[in-house]
Amino acid sequence: MGRIFVTRELPFEALDRLRAEHELDVWEGDLPPGPEALRERAAAADALLTLVTDPVDADLIAACPELKAIANMAVGTDNVDLEAAAERGIPVGNTPDVLTDATADLAFALLLALARRIPQGAALVRDGGWRTWEPAGDLGADLSGATLGIVGRGRIGEAVARRAEGFGLEVLHSSRSSGLPLGKLLERSDFVSLHSPLTPETRHMINDETLARMQPTALLVNTSRGGVVDQAALRRALVGGAIAGAALDVTDPEPLPADDPLLEAPNLLVVPHVGSATVRTREKMAAMAVENLLAALAGRRMPYPV
Ligand code: DGY
Repeated sequence: MGRIFVTRELPFEALDRLRAEHELDVWEGDLPPGPEALRERAAAADALLTLVTDPVDADLIAACPELKAIANMAVGTDNVDLEAAAERGIPVGNTPDVLTDATADLAFALLLALARRIPQGAALVRDGGWRTWEPAGDLGADLSGATLGIVGRGRIGEAVARRAEGFGLEVLHSSRSSGLPLGKLLERSDFVSLHSPLTPETRHMINDETLARMQPTALLVNTSRGGVVDQAALRRALVGGAIAGAALDVTDPEPLPADDPLLEAPNLLVVPHVGSATVRTREKMAAMAVENLLAALAGRRMPYPV
């Protein structure tokens, strides 16, 4: 029996399977443990079940002498120092595939919301500003016939491309190994959707220079990681009209403080990192994290290793 530190209450049945075989220490707060609490509670653990909100850095790994496995309940693993884990021979698992459709759906929802000005329309009605049917009021952008540039051609990028075809969009893509150079894609796209993992190479890939390549009518959607976008540059682009709007599911930092200057930018829609937030998807993610830990603690290879 191993001791597993689970960094948040997870109301999913899968946890019962873990509890049946191991001793669980579950973080009781509804906010993530801070760095000290994380270190203190992880120190005695044989395994960690972590979330995107937990920085599992080299110091934390070094502070856990018994650590044998890390299961991150996310497909992204930029919160885990994979090298430090590998140096100690600690397997790290993630939850690929199961959140592809949910995240692609959200990217599309954000794109539609931006293109058809849904937040503005909803606010107008709620604030009593709906006076009449306006022949030229609240005009948005057509998806059909427009061009969507997809940056990053992994599973989620592909799933967005499939949806885009159904909407009659022409799809361009740009990735490390194929497609158009990023600048060309940005110049040619009416809408841009980001699906790159956060790495040293992709950090602030969307910056003053790349935003300047976009069309002034273009819309940007980010459901990947906040750090892919230089938010100060995005604010400048929205305020100065270099692009027409942006929708973000991810920000840097998270949560984005309510007084962050970015939130003053026009035509900006921000939602709180909910790409994978559907009942079925989160249940599957929890089940995969549990399967990873059950396997690793039994001395087997994780079924979903990073
Ligand atoms: C992931 O899995 O990486 C998402 O960002 C969290 O759902």
